[in-house]
Amino acid sequence: MDLFEYQARDIFEKHGVPVLGGVVATTPEEARSGAEKLGGGTVVVKAQVKTGGRGKAGGVKLAHSPQEAESVARDILGMDIKGHTVHRVMIAQGASIAEEFYFSILLDRAHRSYLAMASVEGGVDIEQLAVERPDALAKVEVLPTEGINEAKAREIAAAAGFPEELTERVVDVFQRLWTVYREEDATLVEVNPLVLTSDGAVVALDGKVTLDENASFRHPDHEALADSEATDPLEAKAQENNLNYVKLDGQVGVIGNGAGLVMSTLDVVAYAGERHGGVKPANFLDIGGGASAAVMAAGLDVILGDPQVKSVFVNVFGGITACDEVANGIVKALEMLGDTATKPLVVRLDGNNVEQGRLILNQANHPLVTLAETMDGGADRAAELANV
Ligand SMILES: Nc1ncnc2c1ncn2[C@@H]1O[C@H](COP(=O)(O)OP(=O)(O)OP(=O)(O)O)[C@@H](O)[C@H]1O
Ligand SMILES: [Mg+2]
Repeated sequence: MDLFEYQARDIFEKHGVPVLGGVVATTPEEARSGAEKLGGGTVVVKAQVKTGGRGKAGGVKLAHSPQEAESVARDILGMDIKGHTVHRVMIAQGASIAEEFYFSILLDRAHRSYLAMASVEGGVDIEQLAVERPDALAKVEVLPTEGINEAKAREIAAAAGFPEELTERVVDVFQRLWTVYREEDATLVEVNPLVLTSDGAVVALDGKVTLDENASFRHPDHEALADSEATDPLEAKAQENNLNYVKLDGQVGVIGNGAGLVMSTLDVVAYAGERHGGVKPANFLDIGGGASAAVMAAGLDVILGDPQVKSVFVNVFGGITACDEVANGIVKALEMLGDTATKPLVVRLDGNNVEQGRLILNQANHPLVTLAETMDGGADRAAELANV
């Protein structure tokens, strides 16, 4: 889960990372009172959207008075930044910047480790710097077993070429940002820019944090950070029904039991789609071991609610839940859904009690259901039906 900058700011503050005052506003009037709360001096009005390049898009602007903050907020609210509408701004205390640095910690999947990156040339052009002068961006491995202790923080500061007189200050901030990464179970903590102010303080002026949702059971407080407006309505519905569902971009709805089988079904559907006008899988949906009629109905309901879906491929391997139970589940699910089920279903069953399962579906003789003998054959038929 990606956080908004203002949420990252709050988490930084909780762990003692130096930040400036910040207040969230959803209206120009709130922006004005926010600026007043921060003392009435110079503030920066910042678009809160989960994408980079806000400054360059005109989403970060200085305001010298609460009145100006109001009018600047009026300009920024409602703005579109790379497809993200600005619903909130953060009013941040204005900093007098002497220098801008870059610092981040991320999960390095390829090396099964963590990576810290730092540069004394931070700011809005860091992506360009990384491409044009990669040497100016220090990369230091951080061992999961050790983290960023004082020695590691010094190693990072030295690799990035921070001047001697700043070392103590940045070493302290790096360690605190590591605490954020570790304690909050983040997969990314990025500060761009980390600044040196004209009065000598090192402060995080921007924050990007991604939290690992697999660890959310350890963080009941993280639930409140979820952005309910942005959650896909189909994913929200699936979550309410405890279904393991991920929305994708294609036209062939996929239901299977077991994550591995569903993953391979996605591949097979994608390959078959190449022969049928380039159709693609529309989702990942694992209905798990006990595929009862209710679970099947809930799954089908979610998939059929996706307007992009043109056909559905049900690919089930009968194990503990045998094929006849699954077949009954499909028949009952279609009964439960009634007229809302309008798209063709290709069903491939294999495994325990496959014969009985097929018999049940044949006898039900539902006009939307086609049986397939094999996984490849089923994927091909479903792709063909989706290519309309
Ligand atoms: N509180 C502040 N006071 C003074 N200047 C600021 C403040 N916050 C940001 N700035 C200036 O605005 C620039 C852009 O701000 P910021 O880094 O938050 O947005 P961005 O980098 O454009 O967004 P993103 O990180 O999403 O790409 C900073 O590099 C800094 O120069
Ligand atoms: Mg930034």
